[in-house]
Amino acid sequence: MKRRVFSGSRPTGRLHLGNYLGGVRGYLELQENPDYETIYMVMDLHAITTPYDKENLAKYTKQVVIDYLACGLDPEKSIITVQSLVPEHAYLAHLLSSAVTVARMLHLPTYKEKIKQHPDGATVALLNYPVLMSADILAYKAELVPVGVDQEPHLEVAREIARKMNDKYNLSFPEPKRFATKGEYVPSLTGEGKMSKSVEGSYISLGDSFSDIKTKLAKVPTDLGKGSAVPKEGGVAVLLQLVELFLGKEERFSYEKKYLGEGIRYQELKTRLAEEIYEQIKPIQKRAFELESKKGFVDEVIYDGAKRARKIVSSVLSEVKEKMGLYFKK
Ligand code: TRP
Repeated sequence: MKRRVFSGSRPTGRLHLGNYLGGVRGYLELQENPDYETIYMVMDLHAITTPYDKENLAKYTKQVVIDYLACGLDPEKSIITVQSLVPEHAYLAHLLSSAVTVARMLHLPTYKEKIKQHPDGATVALLNYPVLMSADILAYKAELVPVGVDQEPHLEVAREIARKMNDKYNLSFPEPKRFATKGEYVPSLTGEGKMSKSVEGSYISLGDSFSDIKTKLAKVPTDLGKGSAVPKEGGVAVLLQLVELFLGKEERFSYEKKYLGEGIRYQELKTRLAEEIYEQIKPIQKRAFELESKKGFVDEVIYDGAKRARKIVSSVLSEVKEKMGLYFKK
């Protein structure tokens, strides 16, 4: 049997460069590897664990699926669907929650950060976020999870749950591991932290025009362009990182040399970078546009994916229910 890969992202509307380089590129790599069966979803049940916009949730969910497809995820090779269409995830999450203490969940850094952002939002759903995420993964007995390094604490919870369930109920969940991609850390354009949809001015969206990209890069803070050491953080470091990701390592070295010598002309660097980023996202935009006009196609991918996913998870769920001693007719 092929080893399974599971991943997904929350429905944020159009993906940004961080999602693309840090997430989707990893999804693609594994999709093309014949040793794996790949399952990718838009996690709308996770979206409701923090305040969200009810009017746009479904639209944003579909938009992420469209971007997945436009980036090259292929329903012939991967199962691509929406989490809430596979209700077994929520069911399994309930079963798994019996193996997790409240204290363990309260101490997760992700939970603490979120309640800092939303002081009124310390809901049970938010506390249970890592359990639902564990259920997403364990429902497929997935072994590899391509996600950013910030998700490592959640994967640790998934491994703990897998071990506990295996010991207690004689189950055989593998302990899922993170699959790290190359360009996985895409910094925020503000020079602080990582690129994020929730920080204004921090990201370049896959839907941005050339002039949007130019305007956004123009705002990245810079310095005189030269000095005795290449900056390791702040705007200049961000630009050099983007140069490496989009123009290659050699180009980065050559700009670093300039920094230590005659100086970098940032306007030239930013224009080149904007051109190259746009070149790389233009074909994705074109495909997304075509998909939007192919009536019914995306919905069909989503519904067909849900059907295929349910086939896998319903057998895992039955096994767990039986081993946990729930009633069923013999
Ligand atoms: N928590 C993940 C994120 O914010 C999204 C997610 C939910 C996920 N369930 C998952 C990722 C299962 C991988 C596997 O990026």
